[in-house]
Amino acid sequence: MSLPFPELTPAEAAELIQDGQTIGFSGFTPAGAAKAIPRAIAERARGEHEAGRPFKVGVVTGASTGDSLDGALARAEAMAWRTPYQSNPALRESINAGKTHFFDMHLSLLQQWIRYGFLGRLHYAVVEAAEVTPEGEITLTTSVGATNTFLHYADKVILEINSYHPTELYGFHDIFEPEDPPHRREIPIFKTRQRCGENVVRIDPKKIAGVVFTDEEDEVGGFKEPDAITSKIGQNVADFLAAEVRAGRIPSGFLPIQSGVGNIANAVLGAMGEHPDIPAFEMYSEVIQDSVIKLMENRQLAFASGTSLTVSPKVLEGIYQNLDFFRRRMVLRPQEITNNPEVVRRIGTVSINTAIEVDIFGNVNSTHIMGNNMMNGIGGSGDFTRNAYISVFTCPSMAKRGQISPIVPLCSHLDHSEHSVQVIVTEQGVADLRGKDPGERSKEIIRNCAHPDFRDELEGYSRDVSDGHTPQTLNRAFAMHQRFLETGSMHGVEWNKA
Ligand code: COA
Repeated sequence: MSLPFPELTPAEAAELIQDGQTIGFSGFTPAGAAKAIPRAIAERARGEHEAGRPFKVGVVTGASTGDSLDGALARAEAMAWRTPYQSNPALRESINAGKTHFFDMHLSLLQQWIRYGFLGRLHYAVVEAAEVTPEGEITLTTSVGATNTFLHYADKVILEINSYHPTELYGFHDIFEPEDPPHRREIPIFKTRQRCGENVVRIDPKKIAGVVFTDEEDEVGGFKEPDAITSKIGQNVADFLAAEVRAGRIPSGFLPIQSGVGNIANAVLGAMGEHPDIPAFEMYSEVIQDSVIKLMENRQLAFASGTSLTVSPKVLEGIYQNLDFFRRRMVLRPQEITNNPEVVRRIGTVSINTAIEVDIFGNVNSTHIMGNNMMNGIGGSGDFTRNAYISVFTCPSMAKRGQISPIVPLCSHLDHSEHSVQVIVTEQGVADLRGKDPGERSKEIIRNCAHPDFRDELEGYSRDVSDGHTPQTLNRAFAMHQRFLETGSMHGVEWNKA
């Protein structure tokens, strides 16, 4: 079909973008992320910088993206500011060096912030699509993220039509954009598999400034096979949830699961799939990753609702060869719907996310290393944790070859407070914090979750503290962090009371 839009090369598309503009790029993780145009924008930025002219743009995406976007633009020093999430090493370095202004956002808020005008004008939406019709109906690829809002809100749109993705992806998406206050109504999702929107994003075709044709796979890396630690964490989570079913606190048909990204999340889902007392379950989650597909094929997972299909190229090939099977078992929605507090709480989602640090009172740091350096961002973890039926955080009981205890007296940065965090799981065991006061929580976490090599250390702090509802001493709360910064190890803090 011939399209009534200018066909552009990536370089011609990049020429349309001007210094100081804000761009909304498609992509939630590397899935569905624009690739050719951001690489060309990075090239353009290098050229402008060499000619002595400034060239930086503001970059908004669904979440993290691939190296062609975050990596290329960061290396070209072409990003003035960035939100809402990232995980690229070059960009992380630029953020921690203060070269790119980054503000870390709850992902469910991004789309309404764009519509409310909180992030200013969006000059361009640069979006990967499987197909566009002359009438402006766009079929997205492996993610939705915030793309529908970028397409609606941006002054102009440039599309990357990527033929790597089949047009038969039509039917995988459920695009619903709520009204803004004071006209907002309930989001009509009462079950994980319920749809409430459209298969395509419809825009005014006059906004389409051009189309770039590409054929490129998503830049999703592989996952590590579970090791002894991640397998044990997975097993502990699965055992805990099975016990909740036996105790009648989770219905016997089970509840929808939200699971974070990464290797621990993969191991947790694998262990849940294998557990004899956990029935085939559903996911109301954010990212659909490799382990989810395996569970679906084994009929251990009945349905997955997410905003991105972040699977390795080989797994995606398998999906594309069996589209009808998967179309009946998954849906991709905008991130303000997948992560929506109203829906998460209504359907009783059980959230499972990974922490960088957990303190002995149950506060969680998901984002910062030693209090100042940004790792990735809060992502959707807060959207789910705060509203979950049960909120679980996992982490290993040791980091950095045993020199760091992720269980600490006080978190060096706070993302999820003790009020939202209910269960902590490490490979050592499970701390169930529900109904416990801060002193009781601290005993439970040290006894069940801390590594034995750090238990004395943490108990030393507990003996050292002053009284009060939350037993802590401010000038000693960071002694383990301080010790690490001075010696490269958290071991060996001298506490006042032996
Ligand atoms: N102190 C210092 N460094 C620590 C640490 C600690 N307490 N805990 C972990 N680290 C380091 C690790 O050593 C590793 O460093 P490296 O990259 O140099 O090897 C790095 O942090 C990442 O740790 P890793 O064990 O590989 O973690 P992961 O891939 O499982 O990711 C998070 C863990 C917390 C970074 C990740 O889950 C995240 O970004 N979460 C926030 C967003 C989120 O929850 N999204 C899901 C919502 S749907």
